Amino acid sequence: MIHTEQLTKVYPGTDFAAVDCLDLEVGTGEIFGLLGPNGAGKTTTAGMLTTRVIPTSGRALVGGVDVAAQPALAKQVSGIVSQQNTLDRQLNVWENLYFHGRLFGMGATTSRRIADELLEQFQLEKWAQASVYALSGGMAQRLMVARAIFHRPAVLFLDEPTAGLDPQSRLALWEVLGQLNRDGQTIMLTTHYMEEADRLCHRVAIMDHGKILALDTPAALKRGIGADTIVTVRAAADPEQLAAVLARDVAGVERARVADGAVQLDVSGGQRLVQQIVLAAERAGADILDLSITEPTLETVFITLTGRELRD
Ligand SMILES: Nc1ncnc2c1ncn2[C@@H]1O[C@H](COP(=O)(O)OP(=O)(O)O)[C@@H](O)[C@H]1O
Ligand SMILES: [Mg+2]
Repeated sequence: MIHTEQLTKVYPGTDFAAVDCLDLEVGTGEIFGLLGPNGAGKTTTAGMLTTRVIPTSGRALVGGVDVAAQPALAKQVSGIVSQQNTLDRQLNVWENLYFHGRLFGMGATTSRRIADELLEQFQLEKWAQASVYALSGGMAQRLMVARAIFHRPAVLFLDEPTAGLDPQSRLALWEVLGQLNRDGQTIMLTTHYMEEADRLCHRVAIMDHGKILALDTPAALKRGIGADTIVTVRAAADPEQLAAVLARDVAGVERARVADGAVQLDVSGGQRLVQQIVLAAERAGADILDLSITEPTLETVFITLTGRELRD
């Protein structure tokens, strides 16, 4: 459904590639995620796949359509939910859907029917005649998704769909996207929320500085770091020194690093971890303030790949 070859964007007046020789392959029925921090090149990638950013070089196909060569056709095969609220404030909720259909060349009767159906499907019927100003963030986002799938696009693109939504609306939107996908919709989304990528996406490309650093299922990405346990230790001690001590004295530590003032250990097959860590810290004269043990997350994968945290 999506195929790119060495897709590259260098914005005029800049001396770096915002997206650098991207090769991507997304299959029918996938939810594919581009995960990366601010500035990674996610919006630029989504833009090049949806005609809004002209590539500097390389090629992109969506639904078999060459995006740069046939932009009008490419618009027909894509549905777009962009990072900003792009609802038309001059139109009410129902009209935002109806006129989208008309804009895409559908007749009045068909557009009316689909607008009604979508409002029901997205639980917005009560708001049909309301101004879009009256919608909460979550409802506005649902309406943008409804509008984006109005013309039955081959691929639905969403750029940071839940940024700025409250946790409940975020869950509700994941539910909506999951259902659309179970009904056959291919979806590509960008996000800087590792949990969103983990929970929602079948495959995830981790992106930084315009390049893909790793691409796989969330489970395989997490397995790939070669550790089954992540330990975070805060102590009243120099974290760099403590990291070195723990890496040396605790069995099974694959890597130790300092993030956010705490020591993080990637551990593989560790036994009696808590005891080992407490004893090692005690011998080093470090008072432990806090200790947590979790499974690896996509955040851990990102840190392992880049040495930086994903969160801003
Ligand atoms: N219109 C533009 N002109 C110049 N540079 C841009 C423009 N849009 C984005 N960039 C730069 O390209 C890089 C990637 O940006 P973007 O694709 O928006 O990343 P993301 O969506 O992952 O945050 C950033 O360094 C950003 O500053
Ligand atoms: Mg962006």
